[in-house]
Amino acid sequence: MKIMVTGANGFTGQHLTLYLASKGFQVIAVSRGHAQFALPDRVQYCACELTNVSSVHDIVATSKPDWIIHVAAMSKPDACMLQPEQCLLHNVQATIHLGNIANQFGARFMYFSTDFIFGENGPHKEADETGPLNFYGESKLKAEQWVQEFVPHYVIVRPVFIYGPQLAGMRSSFIQWVQQQLSQQKAIKVVNDQQRTPTYVMDICWGVQQIIELHQEGVFHLAGPEVITPYDMAVQVANILSLDASLIEAVDSHIFPEPVKRAKQSGLCIDKAREVLHYKPHSFKEGVRKCFE
Ligand SMILES: NC(=O)c1ccc[n+]([C@@H]2O[C@H](COP(=O)([O-])OP(=O)(O)OC[C@H]3O[C@@H](n4cnc5c(N)ncnc54)[C@H](OP(=O)(O)O)[C@@H]3O)[C@@H](O)[C@H]2O)c1
Repeated sequence: MKIMVTGANGFTGQHLTLYLASKGFQVIAVSRGHAQFALPDRVQYCACELTNVSSVHDIVATSKPDWIIHVAAMSKPDACMLQPEQCLLHNVQATIHLGNIANQFGARFMYFSTDFIFGENGPHKEADETGPLNFYGESKLKAEQWVQEFVPHYVIVRPVFIYGPQLAGMRSSFIQWVQQQLSQQKAIKVVNDQQRTPTYVMDICWGVQQIIELHQEGVFHLAGPEVITPYDMAVQVANILSLDASLIEAVDSHIFPEPVKRAKQSGLCIDKAREVLHYKPHSFKEGVRKCFE
């Protein structure tokens, strides 16, 4: 089976590309510029700006993927608020182009969304009422709505606060930031008034494989099993790595002058994935241990 993964140079896209190739899938890895990682045998890399419709069309027409997994996004909420037109172009318009091309060539389409499409009162179930608190969340919701209306047999995956191992050429995630700061004996302030269900990236990859192999469709929350705050996560990282947890100060989010509003009580409920996909995500502690093995 051939699977096209967009955003292959990004954190999740790169993990997903390597994971699917390791499971025997042929992967067409699509991202901007050069590949930022060593390409295994089953991966073909295509440089592509997704807002360029003819470039996307040519790649799909030539490679004829069975699935298009659309992971790429302008994924930083602050940048989305500061550049709303760019955000709409990359998060909504590019999804529409890609979804139309998937429909044209008969490829199944899986869209990566986010818990940011919801407001407060998480953890949320798949069908809960949406209510994004910032422009990034609005853009991801607009793209979801288009996918739900126009893509037959669509899949939408919603992860939360993704962490995982940092491979060569890859950006770090929150846990590596904590490790780096504490290893240099630097004190850090971490918010303790925002609840999340942090997601180990390899659990997402496993869930995606199940969705494909079990011929599933619809919306799936692929998140971690625990509701915890970033402060709790940082303390767990410190304890697992035998670093000095006393350097971590628990703070309220209002001390950071962030332009973007974020939910205090977010996170996603994973009952559907547990039941339908037999999804068994790692606890945060297990996930962090694996990342630093
Ligand atoms: N990270 C999280 O905690 C989190 C939580 C919930 C949901 N999500 C969702 O999960 C997905 C992956 O997130 P991530 O944090 O792994 O992303 P990321 O590391 O920011 O990577 C995104 C990738 O998409 C590429 N990209 C963006 N727009 C593009 C375009 N128009 N054409 C070609 N490439 C484009 C970027 O290219 P450049 O490298 O050139 O910028 C980057 O390589 C996103 O859809 C995000 O909304 C993420």
